[in-house]
Amino acid sequence: MSPRANPDQPDRRDFMKKACCVAIGGVLGAVPVASGVALYLDPLLRNSSGNSDGVKVRVTTLDALPADGVPRRFPILASRVDAWTKTPEAPIGAIYLSRPADAQSSVKAYNVICPHAGCFVDYVAALPDAPAQAGYLCPCHNSTFQLNGAVAGRTSPAPRGLDELECSIENGNEVWVRFQNFQAGTADKVPLGA
Ligand code: FES
Repeated sequence: MSPRANPDQPDRRDFMKKACCVAIGGVLGAVPVASGVALYLDPLLRNSSGNSDGVKVRVTTLDALPADGVPRRFPILASRVDAWTKTPEAPIGAIYLSRPADAQSSVKAYNVICPHAGCFVDYVAALPDAPAQAGYLCPCHNSTFQLNGAVAGRTSPAPRGLDELECSIENGNEVWVRFQNFQAGTADKVPLGA
């Protein structure tokens, strides 16, 4: 019997050719699709770990700080990248800065967040339990702090002092701070993302 006698064979060859073309086309098509998906998800992957090192921000200049050590509150502005959206500068927190009269390099920076449960502390010229002393008072549960950030009152529920932040003077008079938040309610300073 001649090969032509089996009418199914040409159809089977055609079918196999078409199947191979579809398979190869599928593989080649999957590469750009996979790249596109990876690119699309990239911001999520990059941001999933948070930034526990904080963010370095230029806050103000030395001239804006009172020279007598009285702290001044400043908002921290920074741009944020949330998944696919880059937000231009917006407030991400606040700090107190103080400049002791004697040394330019010893500007102190404290996060305004109370380490007890996260309320914002206020600067007060007279602490309730030590009226001769200025410091910080938390309005939520009355924790008090000295100007150096240490817990002031023996009845303060805060488990640690205010969180001091890394601060530097650059280009002669610019005050830069590495801003970050820390976990509330613990005796140890445990960094969170900025
Ligand atoms: S949150 Fe500040 S004392 Fe409780």
